[in-house]
Amino acid sequence: MPLFKKEQEAAAALNPMPRHIAMVMDGNGRWATSRGLPRTAGHKEGAETFRRIATHCSHIGLEYLTVYAFSTENWTRSEAEVNAIMELLRVYLLESCEKMVKENIGLRIMGDESRLSEGLRALIRETDELSKQTTGLQVNVCLNYGARMEITRAARLLAEDVKAGRIAVSDITEEMVSERLYSGGIPDPELIIRPGAEKRMSNFLLWQSAYSELYFTDTLWPDFTEAELDGAITWYRSRKRRFGGVK
Ligand code: FPP
Repeated sequence: MPLFKKEQEAAAALNPMPRHIAMVMDGNGRWATSRGLPRTAGHKEGAETFRRIATHCSHIGLEYLTVYAFSTENWTRSEAEVNAIMELLRVYLLESCEKMVKENIGLRIMGDESRLSEGLRALIRETDELSKQTTGLQVNVCLNYGARMEITRAARLLAEDVKAGRIAVSDITEEMVSERLYSGGIPDPELIIRPGAEKRMSNFLLWQSAYSELYFTDTLWPDFTEAELDGAITWYRSRKRRFGGVK
């Protein structure tokens, strides 16, 4: 960042641009039913919104974008809806294999892959490999993800390390827990955006959101725009972040 821009930011007492933004893509179903369309049409439109927003995030120089695509609880939806979402993800992964290196966008899938189809898992292996060649925006897609499951998994990994004598119980730190989350190595999101009019976390990034600023909007995800994202970033930059201390 040029020095004069840093000085401008300091003068205006603004937070620097966030490095990591996370989003709950909520409201696809309501968007569709309010138009007399099947819920799956809302997910299709939601996938388009996701593409637009990810492209915009890449253009504005964001380092990490994390989206909640499918939760561990979403399996209880109808088979047709689950299959439609999985198909949208398959198409996105396939498309990413062709474009991500050219566009310099990396991809990480966060969640339990064991319940995913072999086809999806093969595509994830391929995008993991291709991501090694990218240095720009990293998109993290939470798929079969739940924060409690993620934290429980980290606890199990720590227990295995203790059992094998690699670490002592008294040496366990917060960093060691963080490293064992699906988001290991990625800074926590400074800003979490939830469209869709609900004000809750829904088992999303519960550990990583400890000090995130939360932006809620009534806009349904398929209607979410680049301009609204820019507005959310401006709002975030004006927030006083105290991290539990006094400023
Ligand atoms: C929540 O809205 C949305 C989902 C459970 C699915 C999100 C999936 C996509 C946007 C498509 C695939 C994603 C990628 C990354 C290509 P909801 O169905 O709960 O909406 P409602 O609250 O209005 O019913």
